[in-house]
Amino acid sequence: MIFYNLIKVGEKFLAKKNILRPRYESILLFSKVNQININEYFINKKKKISKTKVNIFLKKIALRGTGKPLSKIIGKKEFYSREFFVNTKTLDPRPETELLIDLIKNFKGKTVTPLKILDLGTGTGCIIISLFLELRKKINVSCDGIDISNNALRVAKKNAIHHHVANKINLYKSNWFINIKKKFDIIVSNPPYIKKSEIKFLPLEVKNFDPEVSLCGGYDGLNSFRRIAHGAKNFLKKDGVIYVEIGNYQSEKVRKIFENKKFVTLDVVKDLSNMERVIIFKK
Ligand SMILES: C[S@@+](CC[C@H](N)C(=O)[O-])C[C@H]1O[C@@H](n2cnc3c(N)ncnc32)[C@H](O)[C@@H]1O
Repeated sequence: MIFYNLIKVGEKFLAKKNILRPRYESILLFSKVNQININEYFINKKKKISKTKVNIFLKKIALRGTGKPLSKIIGKKEFYSREFFVNTKTLDPRPETELLIDLIKNFKGKTVTPLKILDLGTGTGCIIISLFLELRKKINVSCDGIDISNNALRVAKKNAIHHHVANKINLYKSNWFINIKKKFDIIVSNPPYIKKSEIKFLPLEVKNFDPEVSLCGGYDGLNSFRRIAHGAKNFLKKDGVIYVEIGNYQSEKVRKIFENKKFVTLDVVKDLSNMERVIIFKK
């Protein structure tokens, strides 16, 4: 079979499964199987493809037909213009989380270096690795990322190696602050914040392929914020700042949780969809 015809088979199958961009995804999966870039496909449309590769491609197309996200099939997702490894044990990095990087890049509060940053619930490590890579261009930074999931930590470490920062970022297991022994200038977190009862209503690609530990914030979605607000003061230096990503319409409740623990709200920042997405608190 030639490249072009195989792409057509993939495209038709995905269209039947109501995948939004069937042609694009068919070409993308094809290019991954053949380890070529998309442009090479257009140049080689009439080239023949081996039976083995046809079978691998069709298996991937069938998986996509089950609703498995493209990122989880190819094992990679882009975040802040860099590629991160993902799997079904990690939350796929989301575009709205990039706001945390933009905000912390513009952090003005501290001149003494190194600037110490802790990422709670690091998942793929996308936040702490991006912060390290962005901030080191102008200041000396010391970075820690923790997670409760061994599987997520394995992926975070693989990403740190991929970005050549494995010896620069401390990645370790901790149930929030339990294994943390230092104080930080900045704590950042995109914690699980979906209500338990709402998980079943999430899109299939999320509820079936992102791990529950990365999504579920308990009965009201706010458990992680309570735990973080309860512990954070002991792990922030004087004038330390905490940045948390929040779910839709959680702003008032999350502010109350932190303000009850004597944090001061510095800012509530909206994302590109005009939803309040990040809150910044000061110790
Ligand atoms: C919403 S995901 C965020 C992942 C990543 N930081 C990102 O933004 O893409 C939340 C992460 O918190 C971790 N987590 C959940 N409960 C935790 C706990 N008690 N202590 C530490 N990490 C936890 C999950 O394993 C998951 O990786």
